[in-house]
Amino acid sequence: MHFSKEAFGDDFVWGVSTAAYQIEGAHLHDGKAPSIWDIFVQKKNKIFQNHKGDIACDFYNRYIDDLELMHRLNIRNYRFSIAWSRIIPNGVGEINQAGVDFYNRLIDLSLSLGITPWVTLYHWDLPHALELKGGWLNRDVKEWFADYVAVCVQLFADRVKHWMVLNEPTVFTAAGYFFGVHAPGKKGLDNFLAAAHHAALAQAHGGRVIKSWQADSVVGSTFSCSHVEQFSSRPKDIFAAKKADALLNRLFIEPLLGLGYPTAEIKVLNRIEKYMRQNDLADLKFDMDFIGLQNYTREIIRYAMFVPFLQAKIVSAKERKVEMTAMNWEVYPESIYHILKKFAAYENMPPLIITENGAAFPDLKEDDRVHDPKRLQYLQDAIGQVLRAKQEGVPVKGYFVWTFLDNFEWAEGYYPRFGLVHVDFENQERTVKSSGEWYANFLKA
Ligand code: BGC
Repeated sequence: MHFSKEAFGDDFVWGVSTAAYQIEGAHLHDGKAPSIWDIFVQKKNKIFQNHKGDIACDFYNRYIDDLELMHRLNIRNYRFSIAWSRIIPNGVGEINQAGVDFYNRLIDLSLSLGITPWVTLYHWDLPHALELKGGWLNRDVKEWFADYVAVCVQLFADRVKHWMVLNEPTVFTAAGYFFGVHAPGKKGLDNFLAAAHHAALAQAHGGRVIKSWQADSVVGSTFSCSHVEQFSSRPKDIFAAKKADALLNRLFIEPLLGLGYPTAEIKVLNRIEKYMRQNDLADLKFDMDFIGLQNYTREIIRYAMFVPFLQAKIVSAKERKVEMTAMNWEVYPESIYHILKKFAAYENMPPLIITENGAAFPDLKEDDRVHDPKRLQYLQDAIGQVLRAKQEGVPVKGYFVWTFLDNFEWAEGYYPRFGLVHVDFENQERTVKSSGEWYANFLKA
């Protein structure tokens, strides 16, 4: 590694990210009602070995030790999400004071340790009570979400300034409403298009709500993104790659920037009009203070006649026999550089922050140590690529590692370990991995 933290400048933000359902546990504790994930994990064979997030990292009960550990590792920015059904069990209406108290304690302790909270308002755990009313398929979700956002801002804005409206709308709408592999397990194009449009509306509207309560807030939203390349220079592969890029990287950022949906590449997206009302196009636009990018890998795309709607498919890392993580994602550090360049190329793009980046590997604990050279290398290489983009003029202002603790990795259960800190899920013991020690040293420098 040929760079130090100083190369990024004093105002560059370094941190770690987590999400409520993946770490908190205490899933029905102190008045919290179930979210769609609490329900989804009960279905047979949806999650690797039928794992559940009921206890996860038990962060709800262990946050004091965990935040102290974060502080010892020199981490001074912490991105976490609020579980909507902990604050408002029915999704709308009555507030659960015990849930509010938990986030108050979390925020207060963070601040007293010199750790700045960065709050994600929605990281995929919709209150189940709202799912019973149609969830993201019901256009009213825009108002339910706006009310919840207003509640959070009123409760926490005296101490929280940095907000992210949604986490990766492409992933939660595609996995949850098209493929049915994430909660709530719905499938099909119509479900996907409805959920996507309502999420895009909620994304912009949520931003407006935060600003209306807290004018000096720093508001962003986060986007999954992968550098896309065509499998060959055949025109069909090039066109397939363009379509995949539109779906993976452009679907939610472009309406937010006022460019509408990328319908020129993906014709079937025109069907989203069915869900659009007058003024929606204008309502989809909002000027964020920053855009959060979450990158893990690149995708190689080829033409595939039989794949409905897209006629495109991913050529997997396995098929290509390239180095992979435990998620079977290609290890390709340059992806984060290309993604930063791509997003920076939009006119009127606000500053960019890498709000997630990291890798899962099958870490082993030996003699009370977890040696994880692959993750360490992955992070160093990725951070180097962020610096490369920054030095070429990309306005990238921060970097958050995914993630602090090994956690519940959605459909993959507890199998993939992404943490800087190893968690023994039998006894909740934490062990800082070599990558965690490295990050701590890097941040201290
Ligand atoms: C999500 C995280 C997830 C990570 C690794 C992102 O899609 O925001 O919740 O754990 O990627 O898969």
